[in-house]
Amino acid sequence: MKLWGGRFQKSADKLTDDFNSSIHFDQRLYKQDILGSIAHVKMLASQKIIPTEDSALIQKTLKEILSDIKEGKIEFDIAAEDIHMNIEQILIDRIGDTGKKLHTGRSRNDQVALDMRMYLKDEVNNIKELIINLQKVLLSLAKEHTRTIMPSYTHLQKAQPITFAHHLTAYVEMLKRDKERLEDAYKRLNVLPLGSGALAATTYQLDRDFVARELGFEKISLNSLDAVSDRDFCIELLSCLSILMMHLSRFSEEIILWCSYEFQFIELDDAFSTGSSIMPQKKNPDIAELVRGKTGRIYGSLMALLTTMKSLPLAYNKDMQEDKEPLFDAIDNIKICLPVFTDMLRTIKVNKAKMYESAKGGFTNATDLADYLVKKGLAFRDAHEIVGKAVFSCIQKGIGLEDMTLEEYKQISPLVEEDVFQAISLEECVNKRNITGGPSEEMVKNAIEINETLL
Ligand code: ARG
Repeated sequence: MKLWGGRFQKSADKLTDDFNSSIHFDQRLYKQDILGSIAHVKMLASQKIIPTEDSALIQKTLKEILSDIKEGKIEFDIAAEDIHMNIEQILIDRIGDTGKKLHTGRSRNDQVALDMRMYLKDEVNNIKELIINLQKVLLSLAKEHTRTIMPSYTHLQKAQPITFAHHLTAYVEMLKRDKERLEDAYKRLNVLPLGSGALAATTYQLDRDFVARELGFEKISLNSLDAVSDRDFCIELLSCLSILMMHLSRFSEEIILWCSYEFQFIELDDAFSTGSSIMPQKKNPDIAELVRGKTGRIYGSLMALLTTMKSLPLAYNKDMQEDKEPLFDAIDNIKICLPVFTDMLRTIKVNKAKMYESAKGGFTNATDLADYLVKKGLAFRDAHEIVGKAVFSCIQKGIGLEDMTLEEYKQISPLVEEDVFQAISLEECVNKRNITGGPSEEMVKNAIEINETLL
């Protein structure tokens, strides 16, 4: 017999049960569900809505059920539909009529909203920790490479020389924003919906502040209709996670390029690479590719939930049960992507010579030559034009700007002197960019220090 069976003359069709049931995916909310119920019955007693002995027995039994579930002693029942009714049913099976008092002044609608918020609060903290671990690895790698010169790119064409540390710390900044976004989303997770009932609150004098304190919620919701129909917090979290994955996918793409034969900037550790079943020579960056690939399913989850929620009338609709699978899937995947990505990075071998060699090509010092001419008195636009011509003639000769003789330089501009060679050396190009945010050794070290204190 269903917990809601009173009004029905027939039992549910097996297909209905299978279709309607969410227990196979919402059972992961068992801990939140039980802790929420314990706080609820504690409050029911303190408000004299149920007798203290009943509340005590319910609390004690719920704790037993919790440890039995943890120990794998409980098998859930599809016919009991979801985690909320499974636990309530087990409680009633164990203590009979007293157990039937648990659901006083409560609906599954405010209950599920509570469970989800509790669950997501924990997961946001877990994911934040994983982001911090990745940032730490990036910072320690960056510290070793504040002098490792590499080319930077726009349009994937060589642009200007930077350092590997500068490149790595760009991702530290991106991850910092990801963390801040999660912290911001956390504020809106931190609102207690319990007490909203099915949608129009309840006639019992519940002490919602008491429950909020018990469960560690900062605020309580102010509109019962909104509280049970709101899934913004799920969508918001998925959008934070999508942006995080977008960052990881950009990084993955670069790692894939960097360990290609054409770049050879880095080599992945054998333990974080895979081979080919046919081509004996291959060492593939599968981890980076899979992180890049999984970004698609995280975006998909965001789109799925946005679409599910679109046009839903207030308040609860069963459609909303579809919030869980995409959200859980996104969280689970992010929780495997982040640690494996972190360890893959921790173990990379950096090929400094290749990076340097690459930075030397492609006229990455052309802007610095123009800046040199500006310092000698030319307007930047004129300097740009002159250097452009010099680059063109170097391309024809198959040489770099640093290979031109002083006489050749004098021909393009009489302002050029012997000090030009120093001015366009890669080291100088990097270290002259010595303003906050720049790639100079000093500035990158500053940025690393600031980020380390933040962590
Ligand atoms: N399993 C349901 C869900 O996840 C719980 C809420 C059910 N409420 C209801 N009125 N049917 O959405």
